[in-house]
Amino acid sequence: MAICIDGKRIAGEVRAELATEVRKLCEAGVQPCLAVIIVGDNPASRIYVNNKKKACAEVGIRSEEIALPADTTQEELLACIKALNEKEDVDGILCQLPLPSPLDDKAVIAAIAPSKDVDAFHAENVGHIMIGDYAFLPCTPAGVMELLHRTNISVAGKECVVIGRSNIVGKPMAMLLLHENATVTICHSRTADLESVCRRADILVSAVGRADFVTAQMVKPGAVVIDVGMNRNKDGKLCGDVAPEVAEVAGYLTPVPGGVGPMTIAMLLKNTVTAAKRRLENF
Ligand code: GUN
Repeated sequence: MAICIDGKRIAGEVRAELATEVRKLCEAGVQPCLAVIIVGDNPASRIYVNNKKKACAEVGIRSEEIALPADTTQEELLACIKALNEKEDVDGILCQLPLPSPLDDKAVIAAIAPSKDVDAFHAENVGHIMIGDYAFLPCTPAGVMELLHRTNISVAGKECVVIGRSNIVGKPMAMLLLHENATVTICHSRTADLESVCRRADILVSAVGRADFVTAQMVKPGAVVIDVGMNRNKDGKLCGDVAPEVAEVAGYLTPVPGGVGPMTIAMLLKNTVTAAKRRLENF
C-alpha cells in the first residue's frame, strides 16, 4: 500500500514558517498584502478566492478583495490592475482565472507588474523559470517540489513523467524537475502509447483534469505518484486524476483533497512574502 504524502500537514509546516517571517516583516513596518481580483460569480472561483483569503489571514498577510461584476469591460479590468500595480502597499496581485468571456486572460496576465505577479504567469516570470533564476515560484509545481523535498524523495537522476502541458502546471513542473537534474518527459493528448511512457516513471505527476485517468497499469510498482487533478467523480465527490487502485501499486501517493491543493496556496503565500521582503529592501 502506498505511503500517503500528507499535503495538508506539510502545507501547515510551510504556513507556520511563513507566519514567523510575516511577524518579522510587520515588526520592520511592512505587512505583506495580496490583492485578489475576482470577476463574475463562478462558484469554483469563489471557493478558491475564499480559501486564498483565509490562508492569508492565517499567516498574517493582509488580503484585499476586488470583486467585479461579470459585465466588467476589458478596459475597466486593466484600469483596476494598473491602479494596484501603482499602489505601494500591495505586494502581490492575483486575478482569479478563468475570466468570464469576452475578457482576455492573456491581456490581464500581461498587465500585472512582473514584480507583483505572485502567480508567476507573466511572460517575464515564465522566462525566469526557464533559466532557473526564480523571481517567483510557479505555485502548483513549486508546491509539488516542496512535497518531494519534505518527504525526502530525491529527484536527481530519476525518470520523471509529467502528464499535461499547461502553462500553469505541466510546463513549469517539467522545468523545476529538470533543474533538479531529473530526466523529464512531458506527455499530452497526442502522446503515443501513454501507458508505457508513464510506466517508466520513478516519479509520475498527473495534471490532466479527468477522474480515474491514471490507472494501475500506468504506474511502475513503487513509483511516486503526484496527483494534481481536481475533479468531481460520478457521485459528485472531489477527486484527482488517479484511480483509487493505484494505491496498491505506487510507493507514495498524494491524496485529493489534502495533497497538492494546500501546497499551491502555501506557495502563493510564500511568493507574497517574497514580494514584501523586496518592498522592505527598497524602503
Ligand atoms: N484558477 C485556477 N488556478 C489558478 C491559479 O493558480 N491562479 C489564478 N490566478 N487563477 C487560477
